[in-house]
Amino acid sequence: MAMLEVKDIEVYYGMIQALKGISFEVNEGEVIALIGANGAGKTTTLHTITGLLSPKKGSVLFEGQDITKVPAHKIVSLGMAHVPEGRRVFAELSVYQNLKMGAYTRKDKDEIAKTLEMVYKRFPRLEERKNQLAGTLSGGEQQMLAMGRALMSHPKIIVMDEPSMGLSPILVNEIFDIIKEVSASGTTVLLVEQNAKKALSIADRAYVLETGKIVLEGDAKELMNDDSIKKAYLGE
Ligand SMILES: Nc1ncnc2c1ncn2[C@@H]1O[C@H](COP(=O)(O)OP(=O)(O)OP(=O)(O)O)[C@@H](O)[C@H]1O
Ligand SMILES: [Mg+2]
Repeated sequence: MAMLEVKDIEVYYGMIQALKGISFEVNEGEVIALIGANGAGKTTTLHTITGLLSPKKGSVLFEGQDITKVPAHKIVSLGMAHVPEGRRVFAELSVYQNLKMGAYTRKDKDEIAKTLEMVYKRFPRLEERKNQLAGTLSGGEQQMLAMGRALMSHPKIIVMDEPSMGLSPILVNEIFDIIKEVSASGTTVLLVEQNAKKALSIADRAYVLETGKIVLEGDAKELMNDDSIKKAYLGE
C-alpha cells in the first residue's frame, strides 16, 4: 500500500477546472517530485492533499485512510506537514514562536523539546536568530523557518511547495541538501518545483503536470534524460 494515494482528483475554482483528474502515489521513504510550469496545478494539487481545498471528484488516501474530507489541522495530526508556497511564516512572531506553532498538534513537552533541538541542529541559523521576528528574516532564512516549523509536527510525510523560489543558487543548494537529509532521516517527501533540474536530481520518481493533467511520469533519472523534458523544463 502506498503511503499517499491521490485518485483521479478534479478541482474547480468556481467554473474553472484547475485539476482534470490527477492520480499518483507516494510510497513510504520516497522523494517524489511534481514538476510543471506556472499555472499547471501544482499548488492546487498540494492544497487538495493537505485539506485546504476539496475536490469535486476523486479521493486522497493517507496510510489507507480516506482523508478527502478531513480538515487540514486533523491531517497535520495524522502525520502530514505542509511547507506552503511563499513560506508564509508568522511575521509578527519570533523564530522560536513560529517553531512552537509547528508543534501545535503535539502534547508531549519533552518530545517537542527534542524536536526543537533537532531543528536547531539542522538549521543553526534559526537558533542564532531564535528571538528575531520572522518577518525580518531573509528569504532563505524564512524558507528554513517554514521547513523547521513543518518538521516540528514530527511528520511522516512533508509536502513542500517550491522551496527554491526566489533563492540564490547557493541557498537553493543548501535547501536541497537539507531536503536530502530530511529524507535520509526517514521522512517521506513530496516536492513541488519549477526548478525541475534540482527536483529531479534528488527525487526517486517524478510526475509532470501540464494544465491540470499528469502528462508524464517515471523514474527521476530517466526523466532527466527524456528529450521532451530536457526541452521544456531543463532548458537544454
Ligand atoms: N483561488 C483561485 N481562484 C481562481 N483560480 C485559481 C485560484 N488559484 C489557482 N487558480 C488557477 O488554477 C490554475 C492552477 O494554479 P496553481 O496555483 O495550482 O498552479 P501552480 O502549478 O502551482 O503554478 P505556479 O508554478 O505559478 O505556482 C491556474 O490557472 C490558476 O490561475
Ligand atoms: Mg504554485
